[in-house]
Amino acid sequence: MIGHGFMGAAHSQAWRVAPHFFDLPRRPEMAVLVGRDADRAGAAAARLGWTQVATDWREVVTREDIDLVDIVAPGNAHAEVAIAALAAGKHVLCEKPLANSVADAQRMADAARAAAGSGALAMVGFSYRRVPALALARQLIADGLVGRVRQVRAQYLQDWLSDEQAPMTWRLDREAAGSGALGDIGAHAVDAAQYLTGQQVQGVSALLHTFVTERPLLGESRGLSGAAGAGRGRVTVDDAALFTARLGEGIIASFEATRFATGRKNALRVEVSGSAGAVAFDLEDMNVLDVYDARDPAGRQGFRRIQVTEPEHPWMGAWWPAGHAIGYEHTFTHQVADLVGDIAAGRQPRPSFDDGLQVQRVLDAVERSAGERGAWAPVEAAGEAAGEAAGEAADGATDEASGGAAR
Ligand SMILES: NC(=O)c1ccc[n+]([C@@H]2O[C@H](COP(=O)([O-])OP(=O)(O)OC[C@H]3O[C@@H](n4cnc5c(N)ncnc54)[C@H](O)[C@@H]3O)[C@@H](O)[C@H]2O)c1
Repeated sequence: MIGHGFMGAAHSQAWRVAPHFFDLPRRPEMAVLVGRDADRAGAAAARLGWTQVATDWREVVTREDIDLVDIVAPGNAHAEVAIAALAAGKHVLCEKPLANSVADAQRMADAARAAAGSGALAMVGFSYRRVPALALARQLIADGLVGRVRQVRAQYLQDWLSDEQAPMTWRLDREAAGSGALGDIGAHAVDAAQYLTGQQVQGVSALLHTFVTERPLLGESRGLSGAAGAGRGRVTVDDAALFTARLGEGIIASFEATRFATGRKNALRVEVSGSAGAVAFDLEDMNVLDVYDARDPAGRQGFRRIQVTEPEHPWMGAWWPAGHAIGYEHTFTHQVADLVGDIAAGRQPRPSFDDGLQVQRVLDAVERSAGERGAWAPVEAAGEAAGEAAGEAADGATDEASGGAAR
């Protein structure tokens, strides 16, 4: 595993726990934790359960005894590490967004397609696909519950930057992060909308805004933010992203991603409205899916609240007795369980690097549109190979959710 911050802890928890709750066809061994500082990486390895420590990822990703490389570093490290690991024949799990540019994402997707031929498989970590309530929403939409999908409302709302004195971190630096709220959390909203509907964003009209252009430099890192140190730095990314979009099949959508939504802590909200009903989800109440069926008799219509904690629901059979809630960390465990299952079966994991590349193209269209005062920006068309893979993604998403349910 490359990196040992927030996602390092979340992924480690998943690697540790997955084999104890899921009947995995292969047993993961947490071999080497790579960090740039030996002491800090050593302390993290001891805390998170890794056997060895290294400071040079290049030596590790080519090692004979390594089968899979898990990339949990900021976006500017993704392409180089993933491409080297795939070239060495390793499976790769890479955090989202896949890269900081379409060009890098394209190189990664090309490398993944080439490696798949020799059995090395790659997955990008859009972990919210593995929230049981969202997977259930996907199944219900595919089963026709909402009828013909017409509109999607997708928001990802946080507020941890609304304090102007919150310090600079890599997430506010375009060089490290690629973009701001757009790529950090907007990417999840885009993936969720596409995953739920099985349709891709075709074009956008967008607005990006930066409220606070200068911040104290980081003193000590803590969670997503930290304590301010001496000096000030320039924010080079968007603080908020708003865009409207057209998806396939005539669907229209609105998206919002912001880290300035005062009072909203981690609200990924998605609502899908169709000709016969609707589904609505909010990550701040992640065990629940609200479902509306317009075929209910007049006078008895209304959103029903499904508690998505039953053994019938995706992945839930592996956890606690019926009705007992799960949390944020479980989505990463589901991700590991599915990835290991796919590797053992020689099956392309989802979301693939092609799926990650397609989201990257949407982010790029948003930036182009915002740079031209909201002018309509088509999402760059996929190349032939990527197009085929994206088509499979739409077909395969139902299998992914039901596969999860079966495991
Ligand atoms: N799936 C999700 O819901 C989710 C949530 C948070 C973050 N992420 C993604 O995970 C990735 C990491 O984010 P985070 O919140 O864990 O960040 P973090 O700052 O908490 O941790 C980053 C880690 O990477 C290490 N690192 C930085 N540059 C490196 C380099 N060049 N080579 C090797 N290691 C390096 C840091 O030392 C640190 O250990 C990002 O791509 C981010 O977008 C995904």
